[in-house]
Amino acid sequence: MDGDSKSVRARSWAEPFRIKMVEPITVTTREHRERAIASAGWNTFLLRAEDVYIDLLTDSGTNAMSDRQWAALMLGDEAYAGSRSYYHLEDAVREVYGYEELVPTHQGRGAEHILSQILIKPGDAVPGNMYFTTTRFHQERAGGRFIDVIVDEAHDPASTYPFKGNVDLAKFQAVIDEYGADRVPYISVETNVNMAGGQPLSLANLRATYELCRANGIYLMLDATRAVENAWFIKQREPGYQDRSVREILREICRYSDGATVSSKKDNLVNIGGFLALRDAELARRARGLLVAFEGLHTYGGMSGRDMEALAQGIREMVETDDHIAARIGQVEYLGKKLTDAGVPVVLPIGGHGVFLDARSILAHIPQEQFPAQALAAALYVDSGVRSMERGVVSAGRDPKTGENHLPKLELVRLTIPRRVYTQAHMDVVAESVIEVCEHASEIAGLRFTYEPDDLRFFLARFEPIG
Ligand code: F0G
Repeated sequence: MDGDSKSVRARSWAEPFRIKMVEPITVTTREHRERAIASAGWNTFLLRAEDVYIDLLTDSGTNAMSDRQWAALMLGDEAYAGSRSYYHLEDAVREVYGYEELVPTHQGRGAEHILSQILIKPGDAVPGNMYFTTTRFHQERAGGRFIDVIVDEAHDPASTYPFKGNVDLAKFQAVIDEYGADRVPYISVETNVNMAGGQPLSLANLRATYELCRANGIYLMLDATRAVENAWFIKQREPGYQDRSVREILREICRYSDGATVSSKKDNLVNIGGFLALRDAELARRARGLLVAFEGLHTYGGMSGRDMEALAQGIREMVETDDHIAARIGQVEYLGKKLTDAGVPVVLPIGGHGVFLDARSILAHIPQEQFPAQALAAALYVDSGVRSMERGVVSAGRDPKTGENHLPKLELVRLTIPRRVYTQAHMDVVAESVIEVCEHASEIAGLRFTYEPDDLRFFLARFEPIG
């Protein structure tokens, strides 16, 4: 058949790479996994990776690097000051993101720390389109108060609104009215909002938010950690962008901002690294002043020369063509569709970096104070050795003022897909396990804390089953 004229049938996508090196993984017995989850205090963060079969804890730092990135490692310049690799990274950030000033950090939270310290004064309000754990932690540590200004649809897992990452401009305006623009140093706008289920914002919304910022003398700082994934959804969903490349859309996203924090462990296709990027040279000077105390000299900021070299290559590679991101998000959608076809309640639309199970609805018999998502993640691990992550009340933590638990509307288990690591067959195994666990959901018990850390408690908390 002459493909050009009559190919109306949808064709499958395939990964735009072939596999050159493999890392063995092994499946364990159910008894082994029962012992492992008990000794990990029912917290998947505390499992040994060796005891995991398919690791969907996070897409952070779990990427497979390309042959060109591995080759770039050998070219790392380990000079303490003025490393050639730093300048390669600076070139890549200027070329792909369009920010002039680069402040390298060891990972994303390093950049969040520096940004919060240079801009937030005690008592300030810091609006954002939903919280992220480490981001809010650094804002509060600097004396700020995080205020959620995301659209209401983001809090409803069943809503299929295409841009659940959008800022609600009325909520943002209300923060300005209440605090006064001079007590709102910046709005933190996250691309492809992680805690909402990997949900994008639209360029129209970002542009309007930026205009409101300019009118009030407020900075717009992006969390551009997953901006490439957001750009892909804009290309799919926002009128006028179908014929633009993801590379061009990414540049346009950054245009409506004064700077960005980036965890390079996601979009950027490396295992460690991050940066703060800014337009304003004076702000960057202040950031570098803190950087030398907390991260490292301004030309490495906690990364080795080889890390920066691999990162520069990863930044170019992530937008070299649209094929990479099409396959990356295509794989997430493949898993999501298997689950929705089986009637498993998940956050809709399927997000960019993972599929988020709606634990509140799957485990309706467990009250939120008994951590349904934490219990579901543990049960999934015991069933198949698939490791996932709680993103609900445990992650949300306590209000620093009242000491009460934040009770987020979203009580989710995140199946996060590392980039270029697993195959479609792995996704089939994951889907079968999730479906099986959901069929026996009534047998799962709630949990209580046996150890609750003060800060970012989800990382190190320990639990035991109730009853
Ligand atoms: N911002 C977002 C949106 C993130 O998802 C993360 C990390 C960070 C900032 C912090 O970056 O880890 O390099 O210090 N998210 C990981 C996750 C931990 O599993 O979602 P980091």
